[in-house]
Amino acid sequence: MRLLRQIRLLSWRIRNHKRMKTVLLDCSEQQLEIAAKMIRDGFVVGIPTETVYGLGADASNDEAVRAIFRAKGRPADNPLIVHLSDFSHASEYTHDIPELAYRLAERFCPGPLTIVLPKNNRIPYVTSGGLDTVGIRVPSHPVMHRLIEMSGCPIAAPSANSSGYPSPTCAEHVLKDMNGKIPAVINGGQSELGVESTVIAVENGDSVRILRPGCITKEMLCDVCSNVVIDRAILHELEAGQKAASPGMKYKHYSPRADVVMIESTIEDFTEYVRTHAGGNTYSLIFDGDEDGFPFIHMTYGADSSSQARLLFKRLRELDDLGAEKVYVRAPSTEGVGLAVYNRLIRAAGFEVIRI
Ligand code: TXA
Ligand code: MG
Repeated sequence: MRLLRQIRLLSWRIRNHKRMKTVLLDCSEQQLEIAAKMIRDGFVVGIPTETVYGLGADASNDEAVRAIFRAKGRPADNPLIVHLSDFSHASEYTHDIPELAYRLAERFCPGPLTIVLPKNNRIPYVTSGGLDTVGIRVPSHPVMHRLIEMSGCPIAAPSANSSGYPSPTCAEHVLKDMNGKIPAVINGGQSELGVESTVIAVENGDSVRILRPGCITKEMLCDVCSNVVIDRAILHELEAGQKAASPGMKYKHYSPRADVVMIESTIEDFTEYVRTHAGGNTYSLIFDGDEDGFPFIHMTYGADSSSQARLLFKRLRELDDLGAEKVYVRAPSTEGVGLAVYNRLIRAAGFEVIRI
């Protein structure tokens, strides 16, 4: 098998800090078998999921997990999510699973939901970023699902971007950030949802705290439990010395190179603001339907929250490719999936929001 030999060579080159090129695999059974073997052997593979692409490795292998942190340039205290093929396996890696977690899993797994649970010693502290808890997710994407089964490993996978940069929603984005840093990426086309999973913690009995919003919305969670709290860090900057319930919230995130400014207003006021402030290499990111008569250079990112979720990271990357220096973004709604889009944008904007 030529490809397998090629990947072995790449893996050797990575281990010995030599330069190499990342291989693009397809989703055929034969190539997934190669990817599964690489994961069993302790290597990192770019994998499609229904949310965004992940950088996957065996969650129980310290060295493999360290390689993920190295490839991303990720701070060691930011924990990784562990992906399982079925929630029934959660008890192999965690303990004291509350009854509510089972009810939530029954409704939303497989799917874009991550449940934070107390970890046991099969999950090393490298994976949990030093925490005694671990985020468990059962992805619905057939490729990720198949890889977990074929490798027989719990797969730790953060989003496959360089730390701080927008998450990748196609294999080309992964290659752009990871070429030469990991041996292989599986090309599974465009991510269906476009924003990362909803991360939740179960609190005292029948209450859930959303640590990161995603496509499983507050309203959907309210269907299963009596109380859903949105963590303050989702919409607000942490104050100096304040502890983050989700370590990822304390880091600059989702940021393209351009300076992003979010504007909460009607399209008329938005247009007026851009008219008086635009200069240099400035772009606007507006809704589909806003563009009629909009007189400045722009891109659109969908009309409804689900399309905005699917398109946001792609647009931020495209704006960088165009060399945008400043990007004015029309703020999305915070209803439903919109909260996830707003949360990513407010971070991309470094909390710079103009309300007119
Ligand atoms: O959709 C997703 O969740 C994607 C795909 C690849 O599955 N993964 C992903 O992972 O977005 P990552 O590492 O980029 O984001 C995980 C977020 C971080 O903000 C992290 O701080 C938080 O989840 N997190 C992970 N484990 C946690 C824990 N034990 N307690 C609190 N927050 C946790
Ligand atoms: Mg991420």
